[in-house]
This record gives sequence, C-alpha cells and structure tokens, in this order.
Amino acid sequence: MSIASPLTRLPNHKLALGLFLPMQEGAWSPSKAPRSTSWTFDYIARCTRMAEEFGFDLVFGLAQWLGKGGYGGEMHFREHEVDPIIANAALSSLTKSIVLINTVHVLYAWHPLHLAKFGAAMDHISGGRWGINIVTGYKASEYRMFGLEPIEHDLRYAMADEFTTIMERLWSEDEELTFDGQFWRTEKAFLAPKPGQRRPFLVNAASSGAGLDYAAKHSDLIFITSLTGADPVKACEALPAHNARIKDLARRYGREVKTIINPHVICRATEAEAHRAYRTILENEDSVAADNFVQTFIGGDTASWRGHSRTQWVIGGNLHLVGNPEQIVEWFVKLADAGCDGVQVNFFDYLPDLEYFGREVLPLMRQAGLRNP
Ligand SMILES: Cc1cc2nc3c(=O)[nH]c(=O)nc-3n(C[C@H](O)[C@H](O)[C@H](O)COP(=O)(O)O)c2cc1C
Repeated sequence: MSIASPLTRLPNHKLALGLFLPMQEGAWSPSKAPRSTSWTFDYIARCTRMAEEFGFDLVFGLAQWLGKGGYGGEMHFREHEVDPIIANAALSSLTKSIVLINTVHVLYAWHPLHLAKFGAAMDHISGGRWGINIVTGYKASEYRMFGLEPIEHDLRYAMADEFTTIMERLWSEDEELTFDGQFWRTEKAFLAPKPGQRRPFLVNAASSGAGLDYAAKHSDLIFITSLTGADPVKACEALPAHNARIKDLARRYGREVKTIINPHVICRATEAEAHRAYRTILENEDSVAADNFVQTFIGGDTASWRGHSRTQWVIGGNLHLVGNPEQIVEWFVKLADAGCDGVQVNFFDYLPDLEYFGREVLPLMRQAGLRNP
C-alpha cells in the first residue's frame, strides 16, 4: 500500500518558513559575542512558541554526539544538547499547529521497528505534526561512541534506504511484516496503532549523489545547502540547477518534494547596523572552537558545506543574509526564484532576533507574496 504524502498538511505558502532551533550550546556560531541564546529546554520552548505565534510552518532540531567539551574553546561550543526527539515530544504538548522535526541517526544501532513505533507515538501525540530528519552520520567519532566502525559514504545511504523501507511498510501495511534484508531482518513485526491517516514527515539533508537519490525516493522535505559557500549572490547562481536536479530525481520516483535552505539571518533596521552585528560576531570568535568546528567539515566525507570559508563558519549556518528587512525579503524572493520552496532560518541571538524578524520581516514577506495573508 502506498502512503499518502504529508506535504498536503503544510499550508500552501510560496516560501515555507522554518526555524533552525538552537539545540546546542552556541547554536551555529563559535562566537563569544553577548547573546541570550541557550540550549535549555525552556529557551527552545520559548523560541518554538514564538515561531508558532508568528505563523512559522516548522521548527527543526539537529542531533549530534560530541565528546566532553563539545568543539572546545572557552564556550565548550555545542557541548550541551537536550535530545531532540524527547524535546519534540514535550514541545508537541506546548504547541498546536507548528510541525516539529528532529534528527535521528538511523545507523547508530537502531532497528526500524523502534523508530516506526516512536514515529507512530509522536504522530499521535502531536496530531500529525512530527517529522524525522533521517541522517546517516558523517563523523567517525560518533560511530565509535556506539561501538561501531564508520561506514563508507554511499553504503550508508543504501542502509538508510532499507531502514526507511521497513519503517514505511510497518506504518502502512495491515499485516505482520517479515523482511529478510541485506542489513536488517524482522519476523512478524507489527505496529498498532499506525500513525494517523498519513505517515510522519520524512526529511533528509543530503547533498551527494547517493544521498539525494535516497532523499528523492523517501523524503518529503529536503534540506539543501549552498554548494558555493555562504555568499547569497553565488548561491543564487548555483541553486536553480541544484533544485531542478532534485525535483527531477524525485519525479523519476513519481514523487513531489520540497527543498528548504538554511539562511543565517542578521537583520537590523539599517544595513549598516546589520553589518555591525555581523562584525561583532566575528570579532568575538572563540578561535579554538572555530578551528575544531571547521575541521569537522574539511576532514569528513560530506558533500555539504564544501564552499564555506573559516570566517563563514564563525557566523555559521548556510547562507548569510545580512541587511535591513527589505533586503532580507529581496533575498528570500531570489531564493524562491532559484527554486527553493522554503527557508529554515537561524539567528545569532535567537529570541530577540526572532521577535524582530516576526515584527519587521514577516509582514514584508506577505507583501512580497511569499507568505499568504
Ligand atoms: C540543514 C541540515 C541539517 C542537518 N542536520 C544534521 C544533524 O542534525 N545531524 C547530523 O549528523 N547531520 C546533519 N546534517 C548533515 C547531513 O545529514 C549530511 O550528512 C550532509 O548534508 C552531507 O550530505 P551527504 O551525506 O549527501 O554527503 C544536516 C545537514 C543539513 C544541510
């Protein structure tokens, strides 16, 4: 039995709007510049509720497994994190309409039956508002924490494909499932209750050929990255082909997907003030944390974030949009024109920046036709 896409449950805005939650110490930026941003559940909940009040479509929680001190430095950058599945279970009771997505590393000793059951539970608790960002893990250190050896890049996606297939079947089929796969087996597995009418949102954030093929086959939302670094001018030149390729891949599987990109938004009343805020983040970099953070991406086998410079990593996030509210919305229009179906924004100082965004930028997004009135 095929499963209906949950995308029909997202409001039909020209540009979907998500918030990249600051789940970890320091969020995206290894910078000691003063700010309120915090990894605590209370802070995450306040961000989520504010985003919901402003009409955001989704919030997203990343998952990472770091050692003592996180990425190090004075900040202990990214050391603390409340587990995002647990956080989303709690957030579902504090919210009514916003979609709650969190990351799961499916190759770290999970069985598909576990996640199928968790997914069905989250779907019921949240009223159909839960999504899983299925990732395969790009850090050898994380595999070793679980007593596993790192797995070759493309093989990871073959494994994720089988894992997801079993999970989808458990969600949708009325009979017990016996499956003898290359990587997982199950005998007479059964799930009741199933998720509501439809399955949870499936999300992925790949950039590589193997990763995008997996995402096109299974995902509803694909978090894309700029392949040319954080400069939005260059990104907007490269993104039309990237978006077209992904949608074309999905169509070959008879599927529709939405692509969502992650801009770090630094918005102030004037362009000069926004650039001052940008420089303040850089001038306060935590050098040790920044060096370690950059090294993770240079040293790994991920196809994402390849074009980013060290300076761009201190700001963090994917694209950097710096300017007054009108300029930010002009960039959003260009991203929509480049084929992006959504933006998942992150901020440096989350609560005040989100509040300013909701008050000053969102009305202009509506005027520009990016968001429905
Ligand atoms: C928006 C976004 C969010 C991501 N979140 C996570 C995460 O929470 N945990 C993780 O291990 N990887 C995360 N990733 C990394 C991806 O899963 C993937 O490893 C990376 O984009 C490289 O793509 P590739 O596997 O196709 O080479 C994220 C990537 C993006 C773009």
